Amino acid sequence: MNRPTTVTLAWTGASGMPYGLRLLQCLLAAKVRVYLIYSSAAQIVAKQELVLTLPAQPVAAAALLAERFGADAGQLTVFGREDWMSPVASGSNPADAMAICPCTVGTLGAIAAGLADNLIERAADVMLKERRPLVLVPRETPLSAIHLENMLRLARAGAVILPPSPGFYGNPQSIGELVDFVVARILDQLGVSHTMGPRWGAADGEAPLAERA
Ligand SMILES: Cc1cc2nc3c(=O)[nH]c(=O)nc-3n(C[C@H](O)[C@H](O)[C@H](O)COP(=O)(O)O)c2cc1C
Repeated sequence: MNRPTTVTLAWTGASGMPYGLRLLQCLLAAKVRVYLIYSSAAQIVAKQELVLTLPAQPVAAAALLAERFGADAGQLTVFGREDWMSPVASGSNPADAMAICPCTVGTLGAIAAGLADNLIERAADVMLKERRPLVLVPRETPLSAIHLENMLRLARAGAVILPPSPGFYGNPQSIGELVDFVVARILDQLGVSHTMGPRWGAADGEAPLAERA
């Protein structure tokens, strides 16, 4: 898999905002250029779960998050939910890959139905039609037959359905380690190198087999 230089990251209003924020931090640390979009429900959940106020204005949000994570100038761009002039809205200029983390079952259903009614849905639709990596991290429990059918439909269309289900076989000692387990799997799917957590059957810090010459 080619390493992406630009990744679109979307946050929607499902529980699991710590995964989304940590993913943004890791992408920026990996020197990936990030296009960020978030829903209004994501703003509510960020407040609830992280005591984080996400500004309504994209420029203010980019400044806040870039400063928080020490991003390079121009590395992070935040787009509004209806910014149809943004590159992610068109198949002529999409990012190399996209993740929606956390992803509501509502947004997942809208993408499965091809609605493209806001910029998150449209950007995801573009990734599918352009056959670029799209990773969805849906959080809901239990799952209805509708949720499961939508996931199957998306998987058949080329999306990766990656539930935030951390493994316990590494004996995690903190919530941060559980979060990192999931974020590491997302980075793997996006093709972004990282050294988060041990890999099964590998020495500490050893790259995955696929990355070794
Ligand atoms: C604190 C909180 C937690 C929520 N958790 C979930 C969740 O885990 N999964 C989900 O699908 N929706 C969850 N919701 C409901 C969604 O936010 C709601 O359906 C919203 O309309 C989704 O819009 P969006 O997909 O545009 O973000 C939650 C809402 C709140 C306020």
